[in-house]
Amino acid sequence: MGDIRQHGQPGGGARPDGEQGEQGIEARVAAARAGLDPLHVPVMLDRIVELLAPVLSRPGAVFVDGTLGLGGHSEALLKACPEMRLVGVDRDTTALERSAERLAPYADRTHFVHAVYSDIPRALDEAGAAEADAVLLDLGVSSPQLDETDRGFAYAHDAPLDMRMDRTQSLTAAEVVNTYSFARLTHVLRSYGEERFASRVARAIERRRAQAPIDSTRELAELVREAIPAATRRTGGHPAKRAFQGLRIEVNAELSILERALPAAVARLGMGGRVAVLSYHSLEDRMTKRALAALSTDTTPADLPVPLPDRQPELRLLTRGAELPPDEEKERNPRAQSARLRAAERVRPPRQ
Ligand SMILES: C[S@@+](CC[C@H](N)C(=O)[O-])C[C@H]1O[C@@H](n2cnc3c(N)ncnc32)[C@H](O)[C@@H]1O
Repeated sequence: MGDIRQHGQPGGGARPDGEQGEQGIEARVAAARAGLDPLHVPVMLDRIVELLAPVLSRPGAVFVDGTLGLGGHSEALLKACPEMRLVGVDRDTTALERSAERLAPYADRTHFVHAVYSDIPRALDEAGAAEADAVLLDLGVSSPQLDETDRGFAYAHDAPLDMRMDRTQSLTAAEVVNTYSFARLTHVLRSYGEERFASRVARAIERRRAQAPIDSTRELAELVREAIPAATRRTGGHPAKRAFQGLRIEVNAELSILERALPAAVARLGMGGRVAVLSYHSLEDRMTKRALAALSTDTTPADLPVPLPDRQPELRLLTRGAELPPDEEKERNPRAQSARLRAAERVRPPRQ
């Protein structure tokens, strides 16, 4: 993956005020392009700034945004910390291009890298930074990825079965659905989608694709709905929600990348540096909780009388359990509803 450094003019003139009518829609589209759409408000923005800005105020401090998206969190931190440098990472080239446009006013302090977040060490090397003072991972899909209907993330819109965050990779949702064995499909739906009726859905997919390949989100969503018992269809949101989550996680290898990313990012966190992770489903949050707990626990064997210096925790947790967004934010921003925030600070050099 290459380095993306284009800086265009930030889109201007849009009014993100939710006005109605044709002009309103045009303004919404223009505002969304410029990253200003009121629906694309960064999740828990105030809390993220409160946690990270204190360690980003010294000249040359390095902030790694591992999930740049539309650059909303990054923009707030660039504003709040006028001397920090941003290393913005995203696997989606469209997100990088749009953020580069939005953050053009800060071009002398930004460096964009097309990479997955487990490659944060490489991104830091490319930016010429030895360590990070703060790292943010705002996991999952971005609002534009959901809104751009041709990307196939949303069951509510008919589109080709794609779901790739990085459109330069080859594996798509269509390939998963049409080529995976029954056992593998069941695993994806059960483990990543937490779908109770995984084997019924996988069986229905197998039957349908034996007739013709399944190639649209609408066809898949309808097939999942029919495969699920009628009584359950009426509970827990759209019946295809879990299957779509499972497929998206598989296509983008989300959990295996996250598992590698946390230790890799923390290893490059300087003394006093902070890491914050926003998760949107229990699998991500569990993985984050475990990774941060492992690094913030004294691992001296229980039968030793004194704590061993090289087994002392390298991190101190900054959040008690997972922090949730305020109710008022959840009402205003649907994306915030399932958000969970965990953060920690480096208190000792990395354990050997
Ligand atoms: C929720 S959005 C981030 C929104 C951003 N914080 C903002 O304020 O606009 C998540 C972004 O992370 C990116 N992403 C998801 N998984 C990734 C991975 N493994 N490596 C790098 N970027 C990833 C997605 O492409 C998406 O643009």
